[in-house]
Amino acid sequence: SADASTETEKTLAIIKPDGVSGNYTNSIKETILDHGFKITEELFIQLDEDHVKSFYAEHSSRSFFPSLVEYMASGPVLIMVLEKGNAIADWRALIGPTDPLKAKVTHPYSVRAICGLDLQKNCVHGSDSPQSAAQEITFFVERTSSGHY
Ligand code: PPS
Repeated sequence: SADASTETEKTLAIIKPDGVSGNYTNSIKETILDHGFKITEELFIQLDEDHVKSFYAEHSSRSFFPSLVEYMASGPVLIMVLEKGNAIADWRALIGPTDPLKAKVTHPYSVRAICGLDLQKNCVHGSDSPQSAAQEITFFVERTSSGHY
């Protein structure tokens, strides 16, 4: 049987409004494919504030929440489902630390170091655990296919 670390997994990736408007979409997708991920779903959409609020519900008590919500609804995003062995941890490693300014120092070749601007405009999202990956994929993929957007 396959080693647990090589079992195929799905994770949710989002290119945030600053990544889309900064024209990083193609280079990020190239990086994703170069690292052996398959992009199995793609959704280019403008989120509204209610969708963003429920997506980031776990952060609703944080001081940055209103700003994060406004930002994520400020322009189109590219939502992708990525698939490969160990996809969740590998995508998180590839994007680097949450804060691009720190990433530039500690992980200079990470996506956020290259494409991100600050803690809010940090270019990309990645699910942080198998549980959140499943939740986040359900949130976008199932709602969309059943016509809630
Ligand atoms: S923290 O502080 O460790 O809880 O932050 P983290 O869990 O890494 O971040 C959760 C998401 O919130 C975003 N974030 C912010 N947005 C705006 N302003 C500030 N100050 C800020 N701090 C964190 C961060 O980009 C994370 O978004 P995702 O999409 O999950 O990466």
